[in-house]
Amino acid sequence: MKALVTGGAGFIGSHIAKKLVDNNIEVHIIDNLSTGNLENIPFIPKSNIHIKDITDLEYIESLFQKFEYTYVIHLAAMVSVVETIEKPVQSNEVNIDASLNLLNCIKEYNPNIQKVIFASSAAVYGKLDGLPKSVDSPINPLSPYAIQKYASEQYTKMYNDLYNIPTISLRFFNIYGPRQNPKSDYSGVLSIINQKFIENQKFTFFGDGEQTRDFVYINDLVQAFWLVLNNDNVHGEVFNIGTGKQTTLNEVFDVFQENYNYTIPYEYKEERQGDIKYSYADVTKLQKIGYSPQYTIKEGIREYLKYNESTLDEK
Ligand SMILES: NC(=O)c1ccc[n+]([C@@H]2O[C@H](COP(=O)([O-])OP(=O)(O)OC[C@H]3O[C@@H](n4cnc5c(N)ncnc54)[C@H](O)[C@@H]3O)[C@@H](O)[C@H]2O)c1
Repeated sequence: MKALVTGGAGFIGSHIAKKLVDNNIEVHIIDNLSTGNLENIPFIPKSNIHIKDITDLEYIESLFQKFEYTYVIHLAAMVSVVETIEKPVQSNEVNIDASLNLLNCIKEYNPNIQKVIFASSAAVYGKLDGLPKSVDSPINPLSPYAIQKYASEQYTKMYNDLYNIPTISLRFFNIYGPRQNPKSDYSGVLSIINQKFIENQKFTFFGDGEQTRDFVYINDLVQAFWLVLNNDNVHGEVFNIGTGKQTTLNEVFDVFQENYNYTIPYEYKEERQGDIKYSYADVTKLQKIGYSPQYTIKEGIREYLKYNESTLDEK
């Protein structure tokens, strides 16, 4: 069995690739390394890593002409909301056109594929009054990123409805864990807090720190991924990937403080425009197919820090 993981050198992609490899599935990766890193995927042979842009439509087509994939997991994207605001046209090419091309290549060259999974985002909900956010809730995308995720998600569903391609979209909430890149101000906030603790630098809360998110430890995402990959009754569906619990940023900061046993300076600045105050996922649909998140925020952060320590020891 062969899987193609786009964005496989990134944070989530590398964990998904590892899960597939551990289950004896040959993994091919396509990644332009814009935010990903080859160090994340030492377990993938170089010959199966295609350092290419997902918008290189001809190259993608040539891959499908050459290989028959059992699974395609599509994660490559312009992941920064801010960057999509700055570059709406270019981000459209990466986040929509490339997704559509991928689906089309699957339809043309790989119609017997067993599963196509698309990484959507909780960003599609935007500012909603009701909580938790359910896949049946209205959507209200507030950025090009959110519009693009929604469009690709709906194209993904449409290829199931029109062409019977077994597709699924997953709306990721706030995923965190090892290998998440803390460099951008808009990357996962947990990786940023962690980096600030490591470097003993000041952390800035935008707002009063009482905003909430549904933080999901990467192993729980992998659990959900594996469940949908191996379920043939969920094609054409959309799932939330969350824990069903909300945690404030102030609470997250406290957990880091407890684990590091020291604190760092912090400040509160004005809330960022467009920031959503409260968010968490309704995961009942996922629970119905066997999902049961294993990590509370305390356990997830502890695991995350344990992993970081063990890799530091190796260096
Ligand atoms: N991390 C989260 O909390 C979260 C939440 C919602 C949705 N998502 C989605 O999950 C997916 C993976 O996110 P992540 O957190 O692992 O981010 P990441 O930045 O670590 O991974 C994205 C990967 O895609 C690659 N990539 C980017 N543009 C590319 C292009 N044009 N061509 C080829 N490769 C390209 C990057 O180099 C990187 O390896 C993304 O689609 C993201 O939008 C993530």
